[in-house]
Amino acid sequence: MRGLVFLVLVTAASAKVFTRCELARILKFAGMDGFHGAKLADWVCLTKWEADYDTQKVNRLKDGSTDYGIFQLNSKWWCSDGKTKTKNACNINCSALMSDNIQASIACAKHVMLDHNRLHAWAEWRHHCMGQNLTKYISGCF
Ligand SMILES: *[C@@H]1O[C@H](CO)[C@@H](O)[C@H](O)[C@H]1NC(C)=O
Ligand SMILES: *[C@@H]1O[C@H](CO)[C@@H](O)[C@H](O)[C@H]1NC(C)=O
Repeated sequence: MRGLVFLVLVTAASAKVFTRCELARILKFAGMDGFHGAKLADWVCLTKWEADYDTQKVNRLKDGSTDYGIFQLNSKWWCSDGKTKTKNACNINCSALMSDNIQASIACAKHVMLDHNRLHAWAEWRHHCMGQNLTKYISGCF
């Protein structure tokens, strides 16, 4: 029982959920604003709708693959989780995409952009951000 309580505390402590502006500043510093034409507000909107700014967000898909982390990167294409037949294009363990430190996730999201040259790979971006006025996602952050 004591062990269980300890485990829950450790898990809670490592589950980083960013605030909107906190994330906006990290993404800007990492060179995401204007990266292959994607604006900073696009990335903040994308991560809002894909993961609600939660580094630990995991979503199992019908095809058996899984989306990981703040950018919901998929185990069939971008990372290896040992359960999915993968291209592992980012050459990374999927668990590294759920770290509090999102630099690996950012590098992998950039890789997605380099391959696709647009944000359309992210369904939630298409549904909630594409063609929208995204000012509110970065307002008051800088
Ligand atoms: C990925 O990392 C996890 C946790 O660190 C580890 O348990 C697992 O074996 C690793 N998987 C692969 C495919 O390297
Ligand atoms: C976008 O919304 C902001 C307020 O949220 C407004 O000030 C701005 O004029 C809008 N931009 C466009 C192009 O509609």
